[in-house]
Amino acid sequence: MTSISIVVPTYKEAENLAALCKHIDEVMAETELSYELLIVDDQSPDDTVAIAKTLAEQYPLRLIQPDGRERDLSLSVLDGLREAASDIVVVMDADLSHPVEKVPELVGALASGDKIFVAGSRYVAGGQFDRGWSFWRFLNSWFATLLALPLTRCSDPMTGFFAVRKQDLPDLEKLRPIGYKIALELMVRGEFGNIKEVPIAFKDRAVGDSKMNLRQQLNYIRHLRRLYLYKFRGWAEFIHYGAVGASGFIIDIFFYYALQLFGVEHMVARALSFWPAVSWNWALNRVTTFGERVRRPRARQWVEFVATSLVGFSMNWGIYALLTAKVAFFDEYRILALISGIIGASVFNFTVSTLFVYSEKRGV
Ligand code: GDD
Ligand code: MN
Repeated sequence: MTSISIVVPTYKEAENLAALCKHIDEVMAETELSYELLIVDDQSPDDTVAIAKTLAEQYPLRLIQPDGRERDLSLSVLDGLREAASDIVVVMDADLSHPVEKVPELVGALASGDKIFVAGSRYVAGGQFDRGWSFWRFLNSWFATLLALPLTRCSDPMTGFFAVRKQDLPDLEKLRPIGYKIALELMVRGEFGNIKEVPIAFKDRAVGDSKMNLRQQLNYIRHLRRLYLYKFRGWAEFIHYGAVGASGFIIDIFFYYALQLFGVEHMVARALSFWPAVSWNWALNRVTTFGERVRRPRARQWVEFVATSLVGFSMNWGIYALLTAKVAFFDEYRILALISGIIGASVFNFTVSTLFVYSEKRGV
């Protein structure tokens, strides 16, 4: 008899656990599979733990209560994977959003080859997302999915319902997921070339609240950044800084012209517009790049950032001032002097940072 481990992360799922256990037990009774159910709870303040303990008397349920780390869905799944006694593992949500009847099919699909990742997918033929989704929620999910498409060949990389063999997983200590997208992390860093999608109908939870929020969405962006760096290395970095820089450029130009409209002299306007632009870049980098490290006080970090930007500012403004004052052509087309200043400062920044700041290899 083949045995499987079903890993279910929980946070405040007291009302759903009994129904989940019952349903899983019924479905498994119809199969040739034996199972263990691992509930990985992140110190839920409700009765989840007490209820899980009671249910453990009736079902093959093991309660795992990790501590010493922040609350996190992905990390809980990793804890479950570590503890799983069987080689075959299925991961699913506790809130009955994922169709339990599909577990045998997911497990069956694993047998169709070596090193397969089986994803329960809403976006393949036969799959469904909840009909009750608002247009906004759909758009949000669609956009999030779109951002992940270059990373993996799976049409639903956001899924929380999947099956995998433990032996095919990479060293779990090397994984660095944040937030909700553990399947994406495993597919990308596990280098799964063979991803099989089983259509599922996703139902919104009937009881309790989703723990998805803005913070989780920001975490997703950070997570994506890590995975892009992992997969595309230098290119990802280049595009990231390019995109941040380009958006700062727009702000720069906006203030440069707006200030002049209000009668500010162009040299002064150029000196001033640099600062909102550089602050914008700082804020964006804080959310995406620095966001992963322990946050230092905002004010102090900003001051440090401004201080290091002073060199860039001097070059930027220096080139602009020199060109517009000395070359008639640039005085006529001042925007070109502004762009020259930005290019000069960027080349300088880039050279200095590749030579010194980022010279050691970073772990991503
Ligand atoms: N241990 C632990 N720690 N469990 C958590 C945490 C946490 O911090 N946050 C949420 N969970 C558990 C919930 O109790 C539930 O069993 C499961 O993780 C999913 O959480 P929900 O809050 O219900 O998430 P969702 O429905 O918004 O998101 C689901 O669908 C998304 C796709 O639409 C998840 O499956 C996501 O992974 C998926 O991307
Ligand atoms: Mn849910």
